[in-house]
Amino acid sequence: RPLSVNKLYAQKEGYRYFMEKEIYEQHKVLVETMMGRVGGAEVHFEEIEAGFLEGIEEITICACGTSYHAGLAGSYLLERHAKLKTNVAIASEFRYKEPIMRPSELFVVISQSGETADTLEALKQAKRAGLKTLAICNMDNSSIVREAHCSILTRAGIEKGVASTKAFATQVMVLWMLSLHIAKIRHTLLKEEIEGQIHSMVESAKLTRVDERLHERLKKLSKRYLHGHGFFFIGRDIFYPLALEGALKLKEISYLHAEGYPSGEMKHGPIALADSELFTVALMPKNLLYDKIKSNVEELAARDATICAITPEPFEGADDLVFTAARESYMEEFFEMMVVLQILALEISVRLGNDVDMPRNLAKSVTVE
Ligand code: G6P
Repeated sequence: RPLSVNKLYAQKEGYRYFMEKEIYEQHKVLVETMMGRVGGAEVHFEEIEAGFLEGIEEITICACGTSYHAGLAGSYLLERHAKLKTNVAIASEFRYKEPIMRPSELFVVISQSGETADTLEALKQAKRAGLKTLAICNMDNSSIVREAHCSILTRAGIEKGVASTKAFATQVMVLWMLSLHIAKIRHTLLKEEIEGQIHSMVESAKLTRVDERLHERLKKLSKRYLHGHGFFFIGRDIFYPLALEGALKLKEISYLHAEGYPSGEMKHGPIALADSELFTVALMPKNLLYDKIKSNVEELAARDATICAITPEPFEGADDLVFTAARESYMEEFFEMMVVLQILALEISVRLGNDVDMPRNLAKSVTVE
């Protein structure tokens, strides 16, 4: 039954859209995600039985949409911290490619809803092949949770906006935690390194609290980014999956063409599109490959592309700068930039007069192939 206008307003707690409310909730739900799992020099998951992760030699992550982007981001952390080769696959592709699966692989599926048909089917396939399976999911008792050998709940709470925000944040957080949990088992990080990462996790959650002035700045900025012939979101390393996610957010709710690209790859084709009508949103973290991405962005600026740089560093090549505050670790920068991209997409969509929460042609949960 459709909800009355008043009831809907009450559910949004004063925010204009569910998506906006969910962006603003991220700092709280990230704390929930860590609660009882992170402490001192350790990340512990009660959900994972002792011995479950022993003997694992490789990880394959499989998911769709935003959850796939979280998986890609997680692969950088798992390889870096747990020193395990990590493959990431789009579920609809994985299902039919006759994938090679080895029993020593851990098969991880990621899903907000727990009902995505392709992800569920890929999970069943991996189980049939004798792999250990782990679900990272937001919905307890969903089909995916029931099917997997073991599940970690993301604890994002109900997400109503079709464009996923807080679920993505918690998925990346769980993968980060998992990378440290496995690092402890495999002795691939020192105790002090794990402690440092945990400190950074707590800081990251704090940094997702939305600063009203930043929101205002992005609201103003959005009017300059409405009528180009397309967007590139670019980043390197783990900021590449974040760029993919930034582009997806914009596409989903603004209906503008946007692509995420690894910035080092621009010269291999996409730079041919560069002119003043091409909008580039550049993720330029201070703590990860800053000089490399800077020179990629300069190449675009030299071709007159319009550049919006998200960075804590002053950068002359940009038409617009959105300053971030995170100082110490690239993961803190990741979470802060994630919020910037979400709000930018939201404000562009609002200016274009779209229904932010119910974008055309999309469904929150895709239970058919
Ligand atoms: C749909 C939603 C996306 C979501 C994707 C995967 O397409 O609109 O926001 O990322 O499904 O959903 P899942 O529930 O498996 O994370």
